[in-house]
Amino acid sequence: MDRVPTGIKGLDELLGGGFPEGRCILITGSPGSGKTTFALQYLYHGAMLGDTGLYVTLDEHPDLVKRNLQSYEWDLDGMEKKGKLLFIDASGLRRAKTSENSLVSTYGSPVDVADFSELLKTINKVVEGENVHRIALDPVTTLMLRYVEVLKRRRATVAFFDALADSGCTSLITSELKTSLMDRRFQLEEFLSHGVVLLHSLFHEGNIVRAVQIEKMRGISHDTQIRPYQFGTTGIEVFPRDKVF
Ligand SMILES: Nc1ncnc2c1ncn2[C@@H]1O[C@H](COP(=O)(O)OP(=O)(O)OP(=O)(O)O)[C@@H](O)[C@H]1O
Ligand SMILES: [Mg+2]
Repeated sequence: MDRVPTGIKGLDELLGGGFPEGRCILITGSPGSGKTTFALQYLYHGAMLGDTGLYVTLDEHPDLVKRNLQSYEWDLDGMEKKGKLLFIDASGLRRAKTSENSLVSTYGSPVDVADFSELLKTINKVVEGENVHRIALDPVTTLMLRYVEVLKRRRATVAFFDALADSGCTSLITSELKTSLMDRRFQLEEFLSHGVVLLHSLFHEGNIVRAVQIEKMRGISHDTQIRPYQFGTTGIEVFPRDKVF
């Protein structure tokens, strides 16, 4: 299986080269664990290699997302100007209940969003029109919370993951992990994605330790240990040979 380098220092070593190409990978972690950093680091690194990346924000306006990541040594604006990094602002979906939602895309004119299926259409249009290779959708939790009914939520989640897998891109979806490592209930998204990367905050010998674990990655062999990671000036760095416990 062809691999897509992640751009996360140390992580490719755990994956034997990178994410499996064309797959849909879930990045799940607690608040502040680095999900947004992970997503944009992946796209930015891809853009530097020549892959056009699409970031879909369901949380904050793209300008705010970029501002939050200013402390990293990444020229996100420069990449956007070159057309190698594209943003879709779907943060309106978080608030909206009716069909009057407005989806503002930096690509083309604003689109009306009746439902998240409209979002999928917009994503597909941009993917085809701009020859996108990498997608990051951050965070999916917001989108899924719109569905109170479990069955509807399940259907919507399946449709969403299928559509991303069909796009031909190697996609990342982030989700919020609400439980701790030891007392954990698996989330629906984890079963539906081809791969799952967990970002943990662990309490060890009186300290909080940040640690990453590849829970699953269909079709490839990978490291399964819990490995420490840190935030640095270039984003997340994983220490692939170190152990936490
Ligand atoms: N330049 C930096 N150096 C070190 N750590 C940083 C730097 N910039 C951000 N961080 C760390 O990254 C964390 C936030 O990362 P990020 O926004 O990617 O997390 P998140 O999981 O997306 O958060 P949320 O749950 O709020 O969406 C901050 O809490 C901070 O600890
Ligand atoms: Mg975030």
